[in-house]
Amino acid sequence: MAGDLRQRAMDVRTQAYAPYSKFKVGAALRGANGEVYVGCNVENAAYPQGTCAEAGAIAAMVAAGETVIKEVYVIAGSAIPVPPCGGCRQKLAEFSAGDVPVTMATVNGTEQHTTLSKLLPGAFDAGFLEG
Ligand code: THU
Repeated sequence: MAGDLRQRAMDVRTQAYAPYSKFKVGAALRGANGEVYVGCNVENAAYPQGTCAEAGAIAAMVAAGETVIKEVYVIAGSAIPVPPCGGCRQKLAEFSAGDVPVTMATVNGTEQHTTLSKLLPGAFDAGFLEG
């Protein structure tokens, strides 16, 4: 099932703009509509302005009219699978139920499987805004 996500994440990773860290990341999300949305990290000479691969994939998904994530796949060229950063966990949680599967992978084929609620227990969500 995640096979197509892996390939899409691998492919988009090659487009990453990471001249500063040299650390290329690709992300692929499956929306509730079955479509796959991809993103890569885009760095900036003003370092904090860089964006993560997950953020790019979320932006592509929302721009296409989908707001429900069913599956997440993140891939990097690291020795061990790289977990989404804290900010990306929060961004993913905005559009994902806690049981959404998240696969973290290396380009060499190692995969680690988890869920969004394991990555972000006690998440802040819109429910808290209701008072
Ligand atoms: N990065 C991502 O794109 N996603 C992650 O989950 C971890 C980190 C990027 C941000 C930056 O361009 C580079 O990896 C090094 O931190």
